[in-house]
Formats: sequence, C-alpha cells, structure tokens
Amino acid sequence: MENVLVSGMRPTGKLHIGHIFGTLNNWVKYQEKYKCYFIIVDWHALTTNYENTKEIPQYVLEVLTDYIAFGLDYNKSVIYLQSMVEEVAVLHLLLSMITPLSWLERVPSFKDQIQQLGKEIATYGFLGYPVLMTADILSFNAKYVPVGQDQLPHLELAREIVRRFNYLYGDTFVEPEPLLTESPYIPGFDGRKMSKSYNNAIFIDENEKETEEKVMKYITDPQKIYKNSPGRPQICNVFTLHKAFNNPEKEEIEQNCTQGKLGCVECKKRLAKLINSTLQPIREKRKSIDKSKLTDILLQGSLEAKKETRKILTKVKQKLNILGV
Ligand code: TRP
Repeated sequence: MENVLVSGMRPTGKLHIGHIFGTLNNWVKYQEKYKCYFIIVDWHALTTNYENTKEIPQYVLEVLTDYIAFGLDYNKSVIYLQSMVEEVAVLHLLLSMITPLSWLERVPSFKDQIQQLGKEIATYGFLGYPVLMTADILSFNAKYVPVGQDQLPHLELAREIVRRFNYLYGDTFVEPEPLLTESPYIPGFDGRKMSKSYNNAIFIDENEKETEEKVMKYITDPQKIYKNSPGRPQICNVFTLHKAFNNPEKEEIEQNCTQGKLGCVECKKRLAKLINSTLQPIREKRKSIDKSKLTDILLQGSLEAKKETRKILTKVKQKLNILGV
C-alpha cells in the first residue's frame, strides 16, 4: 500500500519566503514519493481568528495560488479545503469523546498562545485544536506528517489518541510519524523571525521593487559601521539569507565582508537580485493561473478527500456502534 502523507496550513495570509524553506520545498518533493493530502485548514484558522473572519476566503485562494505556482500539482496530490469535507468534523467529534481533558490542557501551545494572544482565544474549539488536527490526519490513516518543531506536541497527542482508540476498539489507525524537516531560521527585515503577523515578511506575491526595498531595510552586523569595516557574516541576517537561497557566491561574500571589502548596500543589492531571480518563475506562473478555476480545484480535491474520509468514518462509526450514516 502506498504511504499516505498529510499536512496542512492555516489560511491566515499570503505565503512568504519563510514558507519556502522547510515547507514548500519539501512538499514538492514528497508528492513524488507519497500519496499526499495538502489541506488548507480554514476551521483551524477560526481557533485564533474567530472575531475577524472576513479575510479567510481571500487567503484560502491566495494560499492555493501560491501552492500551485510553487509546484504543488493538484493532479498528483489532493489539495483541498478543510471545511469542504464535513466528515472530518464528525471524526473530530467522535475522537473528542475519547480524548481526556488533561491531555489537551498540557499541550504547551495551549497555555503559550493564551499568554500571547489573551484569554479570548481560550475557547472550547481552541482547546480541541490538536484533536481537529488528529482528525485531519486520521481521515486518511496517514503515516507521515511533515511538521515544524512547534507542532511536535500536537503530533504526539495524535499518536496517543491513536493508541487509545486502537486499545479501546481494536486496531484501526496507524500511528502517524512526524517528518521533522530541517528548516533554517529565516529572519524578517526587522531581525525577528519572518512572520506575516510581525509585518516583516517578503512575500512570494509582490513585485521586485517591493522585495528590493524590504531587503535594503535588513539590519546587518551593527559593528559594521562603514562600508569598509570588517563584518561578521555569522551574525548577519543578510548573510543568513544568502545561505538559505544557496547563493553560489556565498564564500566570496563571506570572505569579502569579513575583510571589509564588501559594503552592506552592495551585499543587499546582490541578495535582492538573487531572491528576485529565484522567485521570478514562481511569480510568472502565479500570474498565469486562471483565478476562476481555483474554487473548482478545491472542490475536486475535496471530493477526492471526502471519498477516503467516508470510508474511514464508516469504520469508526461501526466500531463505536453509532448508527447514523
Ligand atoms: N496545526 C498545523 C499548523 O498550524 C496545521 C495543521 C492542521 C496540520 N491540520 C494538520 C498540519 C494536519 C499537519 C497535519 O502548522
């Protein structure tokens, strides 16, 4: 049997270059190796954004366009919108019945996020976030789940739910394994981690001038005051990006910066050029995508997902002696 892989992303904004390394780059490779389901998880977006949902539909389409432009192929992989497959919500409900409250309360992101975003997000749905994620994964009995470090506790919880389910009702699900991908730290132009919510991101969908202007804002080595002061590439955000984009000239840049032969302005210009030339084909493809087809693409993926989820849900209902079909 083919190995199944599931991953998801919340539609909370356009994708930026931080999403390329560690996420999109790997997804494109995985689709050659596994049966992949890539989910745009709009229900999950509600857990932290329930007060402001206006932009979700637009972001769903932006994220989908970025996916396709980047090379995710909806003929190879199933790309779908979570809310179009209501069976997943039923599975979530049934799994919630066997998930002890204490397991959810000890998931670190639950307390962390409340501390960061305030008490208003401490809803019933938010507490159940990892159970919904488990339902996404178990809907296809997936073996592999590529996630970042921050999602590992959620996946551990999914594994615990699987063990409990299999113990109570007999072998049903495989324990999903994380595919932990090395993702380099991508700084935004203010030096913090690149994130849409920090307003420091370079987006896939922006023009070359915007990208160049953002690159020029990057904070470099604060000790490199003059063009010809020696710099420390190992602590420089701009050099971090030269490395992430695998600049073939990175050794030369490192050497010349260290020896005070390369100024930051010149170095940034070279970086902007590199980012723009790397993104150029993706931006081109983005423009060529027929926007009127996007909803159909999601519908087609969702129908395919529905078929699989139904089979698994039927099995689960039988095991739980739930008559409703
Ligand atoms: N929680 C994940 C995140 O925020 C998104 C997600 C939802 C997911 N369902 C999933 C990831 C299923 C992997 C598999 O990054």
